[in-house]
Amino acid sequence: MKVEVVLTEADIAQEFAEAIEARDLPEKFFFWFPRSAKQWITLAQEAELYGGLVQTWNQIAADSKPLAQHFGGRAPVISFGAGDGSRDRILISALKDAGCECQYYPVDASQCLLEIACAGAEDDEIDGVGIKADISSPVHLVYAADASEPPRIFIMSGNTIGAFDPLAEIRYLSQCMKPGDRLIIDGEAYDGEKTLARRGNPAARRFFQTLLRNVGIGEEDGEVRFNHKRDERHEGLHLITRHFRADRDLSAIAAGEEIALERGERIGLNFQYTYTPEAFQWLLCEHGGLEIITQYRSPDERFITAVCKR
Ligand SMILES: C[S@@+](CC[C@H](N)C(=O)[O-])C[C@H]1O[C@@H](n2cnc3c(N)ncnc32)[C@H](O)[C@@H]1O
Repeated sequence: MKVEVVLTEADIAQEFAEAIEARDLPEKFFFWFPRSAKQWITLAQEAELYGGLVQTWNQIAADSKPLAQHFGGRAPVISFGAGDGSRDRILISALKDAGCECQYYPVDASQCLLEIACAGAEDDEIDGVGIKADISSPVHLVYAADASEPPRIFIMSGNTIGAFDPLAEIRYLSQCMKPGDRLIIDGEAYDGEKTLARRGNPAARRFFQTLLRNVGIGEEDGEVRFNHKRDERHEGLHLITRHFRADRDLSAIAAGEEIALERGERIGLNFQYTYTPEAFQWLLCEHGGLEIITQYRSPDERFITAVCKR
């Protein structure tokens, strides 16, 4: 499969150096290094964390006949933040079985994950084009959405929207949607006991520690802490923030530059939004201007997934 590059490696490397300098790392860098991509694939297979979401995708695939009928014989699938594409392929395979010809467009900032998604599609004899782009940019999002003529199936899964400002991101997504398009999107449901506890899962910790290790920061250099906050813009929006706090003076290396960190200094490690079911519905419908056609709750109750139209 071909890959179109909108976001170059040189751009990402430049942004990464600036982000480390600013002590604030956006989501895309967590998946950027090849070792991080590998850790993500391991994490995404962790049954305790993502097993419920896989069951939801199997259910969406089992229910996909009406979706296949809606698209007639042709369904382009554009997945924003596709990762290794494994969830997307569950649906594509069911659509193909229902007689739909699928073109697949995985969109991701991680070259490594994009290559894996494209290779997986090729193995399953799915045609398409990978797009290396920044899905937090409205311009890149429109470019990727226009990879195919409508009607299209858009996907944003794995609580990918929760690592951006979801109020802005859902509007960008909604603006890309034309009549006949469908969006399958999920969010993580907030749970007073489990949401923070899940962040301590060893595979989850290994995942973000890999990023720190890539810049020369080891476990013995400090501590990663999580905080729970509420986003006051709407009832039921819960924000889990995380940061690294240096326990001693140390230096990180980014793009060959040494960056000194003093004891007690912090590096922001992005955030993840989680939602009450009411807040997730509000986000999609009232705020995003979408209509929910079908909604799924994963059997472990962790994820809410909605099939929407505009
Ligand atoms: C939480 S993972 C979800 C992956 C996949 N959709 C799944 O359900 O397993 C988020 C994905 O979004 C990608 N990503 C994060 N920030 C991004 C950005 N700004 N632009 C493009 N991709 C981004 C990551 O590389 C990663 O593959």
